[in-house]
Amino acid sequence: MEEQLESLKKAALQELKEADTLGVLNELRVKYLGKKGSLTGVLKGLGNLQPEERPRIGQIVNAIRTQLEMEIANKSDELKQAELDKRLASERIDVTLPGRTSNIGSRHPLTLTLDRIKDTFMRMGFDIADGPEVETDYYSFEALNLPKDHPARDMQDSFYITSDILLRPHTSPVQVRTMQAADPGQPIRIIAPGKVYRRDYDATHSPMFHQVEGLVVDRGIRFSDLKGTLELFIYEIFGNDVRVRFRPSFFPFTEPSAEVDVSCVMCGGKGCRVCSGTGWLEILGSGMVHPRVLEMSRFDSDKVSGFAFGMGVERIAMLVYGIDDLRLFYDNDLRFLRQF
Ligand code: FA5
Ligand code: MG
Repeated sequence: MEEQLESLKKAALQELKEADTLGVLNELRVKYLGKKGSLTGVLKGLGNLQPEERPRIGQIVNAIRTQLEMEIANKSDELKQAELDKRLASERIDVTLPGRTSNIGSRHPLTLTLDRIKDTFMRMGFDIADGPEVETDYYSFEALNLPKDHPARDMQDSFYITSDILLRPHTSPVQVRTMQAADPGQPIRIIAPGKVYRRDYDATHSPMFHQVEGLVVDRGIRFSDLKGTLELFIYEIFGNDVRVRFRPSFFPFTEPSAEVDVSCVMCGGKGCRVCSGTGWLEILGSGMVHPRVLEMSRFDSDKVSGFAFGMGVERIAMLVYGIDDLRLFYDNDLRFLRQF
């Protein structure tokens, strides 16, 4: 009996030693100490022994039981620790790795350009005015001396929502809105930046682009005021080396009218794809406000006069940054945008 117990103990200890997972360890606990386990079996069989043998064998069984329980507890701690070490090793965080930096955006080149334009005019005393992008025929054309079926409408024919409502093809409606909201006795000096829409698409024309409208109305405003203001603006934006050209033109809402070109920065004026071989890039249209436009908006054209202009922001940004295709502004390519 004693020998039997001794070899049982040896076998159990050996198996415990070899147990390499908590699962195996639990199986051993059941095998030896469980309700139907081998050691429990011996205890149950004590009844068959001589009464004087029982206490002694009982003591041995209990001693083995205690020892096995202890060994199992130790082994269990050991295996748990090993498992934890393994997990810690596999989930280890390398605190010396550089962190992920969050991407910080920057202002779009068109915004940068627009801000410079606004700043330049604000320093000359201009206020900033605003108007809707979805506009009526009346403000877009009619009140600007472009009656229905006037051929000059073709140049700016645009995106119609109804026959009377369209996406504005230029910022000039803001001229009319500003004059009509003003007290006709007071001078006006505003710029109106914003989006405009036309059916255009090439390296220098986009279907949606930005203009900045300008309007000055006061007593005694002359063409030289227009010229001086725009030249000052152009030298401020492009530096004093750029060449400026006023070219006679036609707008129904100004008389006389002029378009203003600056020398092409891409080719230095020699002629290239961007300036269509001319050496010049048109940046704005301008002129003296037509007396009829003043009258339509309640201003007395015998007493006051004015000048107006409308410039393309994309064209100016192209010249300032030396960009040869305006469509790059709208591609959202970070390789392009990060350069500003
Ligand atoms: C006009 O839009 C007039 N309303 C300007 C004006 C205002 C004249 C006040 C007189 C008095 P124009 O169609 O030329 O004019 O356009 C003005 C400028 O917008 C152009 O010089 C050019 O720089 C820019 N532009 C015109 N079409 C496009 C386009 N599709 N994409 C980008 N820029 C354009
Ligand atoms: Mg033009």
